[in-house]
Amino acid sequence: MATKKIALLGFGTVGSSVAKVLATGKFAGVELTHIYNRDVERKKSTPNAKFVPKTTVWTENINDVLSSDVDIVIELIGGLDPIESWLRKAITSGKSVVTANKQLIAYRGAGLLRLAKKHNVQLIHGAAVAGGVPVIPGLLQGQAGDQITRIRGIVNGTCNFILSKMEAGAEYADVLAEAQALGYAEANPSADVDGFDARAKLCILSRIALRAELDPEQVPTQSISAVQAIDFAYAKELGCTIRQISAAELVGATVQARVAPMLVPNTLPMAWSHGTQNMVVASGRFGGDVVFSGHGAGGEPTAVAVVSDLLAVVHGHSSVELPIKKRVVTGDFLSPHYLR
Ligand code: HSE
Repeated sequence: MATKKIALLGFGTVGSSVAKVLATGKFAGVELTHIYNRDVERKKSTPNAKFVPKTTVWTENINDVLSSDVDIVIELIGGLDPIESWLRKAITSGKSVVTANKQLIAYRGAGLLRLAKKHNVQLIHGAAVAGGVPVIPGLLQGQAGDQITRIRGIVNGTCNFILSKMEAGAEYADVLAEAQALGYAEANPSADVDGFDARAKLCILSRIALRAELDPEQVPTQSISAVQAIDFAYAKELGCTIRQISAAELVGATVQARVAPMLVPNTLPMAWSHGTQNMVVASGRFGGDVVFSGHGAGGEPTAVAVVSDLLAVVHGHSSVELPIKKRVVTGDFLSPHYLR
């Protein structure tokens, strides 16, 4: 097998962990030839820089990557622009792409996937949802034969970290600061606490599991920032706790979807999810419920998902392709704040 040349875009929490996972895994057939970052000198002095091979080219000029003979680009910068145009250039010049960019895949994934198909390269984004938990590969391969009608769960590690610590008595602001310091939160933590990160992930899961293309802006989304200690006291009286839940369900030709802090009965496994643990339940017509669970945020768990995607590309494993329809988000849950 010919060695594939790999470029890493972004050397932050996840990017630098990818370098570590790659170096310590000693995988055959991959060579990290380029790293793009805005501030190379600063990144070269971070702890995981020691895992970068001496021969790797560090650059602050994206064209050094896009015009190179790199085979696979790993994008771990995030955001829509200019990342979409960079990845389009990579794809049209025959490079496969591995990305953890949930906003990009939620809003513009359909077009990018079409472009990748046209150019006969792969675009894989297993790390975009639930960090180190293989929900996307599981849905794309293991459950491809089922007809998934509902998907719901906890897909934001930061919110789960905050709510499960508040449940134990901690203050919202203190735990949010801790989640930021530990590298769980987005660059702007509003994306986490106000639900936009989870909403993007829910739309990606809907595309894969429900085969439904949703407009993220249509999904009712509610912040966890208003949740207070007293809410946990009332929840406890009802035999519940509070978690940020993301849920989407096929209802006729439409999809009922929502991201919100919800009361979760203590009898349900989602109530037992603590810290950055994500949990997704995919309900199939034939196979019933399948539960995915594990660390949904953090450098190393997410890097595992990225490197697994990379290895899938290197070994030529392509995903099952299923028809996807545009769907309107309508209606609302009967009890929008109570998970049953
Ligand atoms: N900020 C995200 C989270 C990171 O807390 O889940 C992983 O996508």
